[in-house]
Amino acid sequence: MKDKTRVKGSIHYVGVNDRQKHLFENLWPLPNGVSYNAYLIDDEKVALVDTVDVCYFEVFLRKIKKIIGERPIDYLIINHMEPDHSGSIRLIKHYYPNITIVGNRQTFGMVEGFYGVTDLQHQVKDGDTLNLGKNQLTFHLTPMVHWPETMMTYCETEQVLFSGDAFGCFGALGGGFIDEKINTDIYWEEMVRYYSNIVGKYGSPVQKALEKLSGLPVSAICSTHGPVWTGDNIERVISIYDKLSLYDGDEGVVVIYGSMYGNTEQMAEAIAAELSAQGVKNVIMHNTSKSHASYILADIFKYKGIIVGCTTYNGQLYPEVEAILSKISGRDMKNRYFGYFGSFCWAGAAVKKIAEFAEKSKFEIVGEPVEMKQAMKEDTYAQCEALAQAMAEKMIK
Ligand code: FEO
Repeated sequence: MKDKTRVKGSIHYVGVNDRQKHLFENLWPLPNGVSYNAYLIDDEKVALVDTVDVCYFEVFLRKIKKIIGERPIDYLIINHMEPDHSGSIRLIKHYYPNITIVGNRQTFGMVEGFYGVTDLQHQVKDGDTLNLGKNQLTFHLTPMVHWPETMMTYCETEQVLFSGDAFGCFGALGGGFIDEKINTDIYWEEMVRYYSNIVGKYGSPVQKALEKLSGLPVSAICSTHGPVWTGDNIERVISIYDKLSLYDGDEGVVVIYGSMYGNTEQMAEAIAAELSAQGVKNVIMHNTSKSHASYILADIFKYKGIIVGCTTYNGQLYPEVEAILSKISGRDMKNRYFGYFGSFCWAGAAVKKIAEFAEKSKFEIVGEPVEMKQAMKEDTYAQCEALAQAMAEKMIK
């Protein structure tokens, strides 16, 4: 019988797929589902690395028992406490009451707070090791990737890195779990969307973690979401996380707008047409009333130009644009060129409000903002084109 669970040596995959949930964190769409990955090291001492969303506990337990039968689990290593991974801790304690929970100083308060579990703890510091028999583990604390307790566990023996959410992506796993045995096409885009939606604010801690881990020889990355990465994909995955956490955007402009009857949309169209005429190939249009913020965020992490515009609504920003600006603010974005425009019927507010956002941001403001009353006129076209030309100069230089 083919071994369906082995990652390497005595390391097994015991994760699960969720194709039922519509929104991750009740916020982010999951058209391809998501996997909650956990791993079991079947050595003289048995160690479980992370758990899964509690909804999938029975499937998870069956996978564990299929590998170790009725043997006990000695250690539960917690790399991350967000409930998509920690959700089964209380039930694991119920089935394995003598299991010792391994975490760092930040972990155990959360274990008690979420699950009321306080006994049999083994606290580790950065660089501490744990011997399971054949396999020697080392713990690397990587705080704020993307919670304070996040750490990674490295198996020296097999050169396998259990990385928590780092290097993860959306997308459930189709059958197998190792990259070389599945079609990985969907995961690359889903990695950018996952990073921008979930980890995006924490570029600096991700950079620190990458630096800390840079000397480790790695034969497999076992993250908590998406495929196990091996071979050439390891470098590809690390370089995607490196680029995103440096806020290093490619040439291209994301035009984000909110429009009630299409007049403000025509400003966006005029800007986009001129960007294209100036040689900008990647012009990504997002009507905030149709595009989910999840995809808009992914695009602004990909490209270095952003132009935002909307109509005035109740003397404020158009609500969907206000919402996306708030999400952008929450991600501490930098290294971006930013232009803006807006409109009004009888009293302008949109341009003023976007200007307030722009002043607080770390973006370089490009061109003159364009403000339109009611509908497009010849001078509005000219102003939109001038804004696009100023942005295009930043892209093509
Ligand atoms: Fe996949 Fe931060 O939990």
